[in-house]
Amino acid sequence: MSETIHIETTINGRDRAFEVAANLTLLDVLRDQLGLTGSKECCVVGECGACTVIMDGIPMNSCLMLAVEIDGRDVITVEGLATDGHLNALQQAFLDLSAPQCGFCIPGQLMSAHALLQRNSDPTIDDVNEALGGNLCRCAGYLQITEAVMVAAKAGKE
Ligand code: FES
Repeated sequence: MSETIHIETTINGRDRAFEVAANLTLLDVLRDQLGLTGSKECCVVGECGACTVIMDGIPMNSCLMLAVEIDGRDVITVEGLATDGHLNALQQAFLDLSAPQCGFCIPGQLMSAHALLQRNSDPTIDDVNEALGGNLCRCAGYLQITEAVMVAAKAGKE
């Protein structure tokens, strides 16, 4: 049985305080303990990006982090993008351009794109491709995904 550690963090704008087992990954705690199942479990070795969340503005592979690492940090998961049930501009652009195919990679793609647009509101296609380079899409829907990010950036509402 692993040691349990008390952490205090902000997740999707909400202050949270809870106990986590010291040996659990952030991905496991998000999905299994907090019920935030938008972050997907796929390779669990940092190769695919399906588990991407944003910590203090930086996209991170939550499968490679221990949950205790978010103590005192600000975390955004894909559940934090919509407001009052309304998709944000990035999510809407993904929908409008049919960027999701099977959809499994989309939460991670959205989080990497969101982090990009937060630090660069006028990215080039190269900027987008670089920012999303760690997010793999088995359906190879890369063109629509890149285009959706550019559309959201142009909308200037992200
Ligand atoms: Fe974390 Fe693939 S599940 S990078």
